[in-house]
Amino acid sequence: MVFRTLVVALIGTAITQMPMSPADVQAHRSRMIATQLLEQKVENALAARSRRTAAAGARDLVPILEKEQQYWDRTGVEDAMMFAERNLGTAKRLADVTKRGDLAKAGFELDALRANCVACHGRHPDTRVHVGR
Ligand code: HEC
Repeated sequence: MVFRTLVVALIGTAITQMPMSPADVQAHRSRMIATQLLEQKVENALAARSRRTAAAGARDLVPILEKEQQYWDRTGVEDAMMFAERNLGTAKRLADVTKRGDLAKAGFELDALRANCVACHGRHPDTRVHVGR
């Protein structure tokens, strides 16, 4: 029984943990920097009560975080997959509320987004990514 569980766990890991190329990892880091800039853009826009700029920043964040979600899905690092999915969901809600001009809700979603960035970084999932050639 223990042996079976072990075999299942090993096969499961072999199937889900695909090696990422160094270029994949580099692209992910570039997306993180772009994410940071857009997050700051939205933050500044909300402080200035500029709905249009906030909406543009949040809208641009969505496709980047979509790519991040796909990246983490391919790594098979499960906690990061969950955080990446949450980050995308929150960014979509942020895009929606800023578009509607609901700045109070936007502030709430931005806080949720940030908490998610911090939570994922705190777990250092990059140390568990299988990097190939
Ligand atoms: C799913 C996990 C995860 C989420 C969610 C996440 N990050 Fe990251 N981020 C990472 C990892 C891992 C690194 C370290 C770089 C690496 O993977 O080698 C990183 C690195 C960064 C860096 C440094 C990039 C560099 O190489 O200089 C910035 C800036 C950053 N993240 C911003 C953000 C922001 C802003 C958010 C939230 C909107 C966010 N991240 C959400 C995983 C995540």
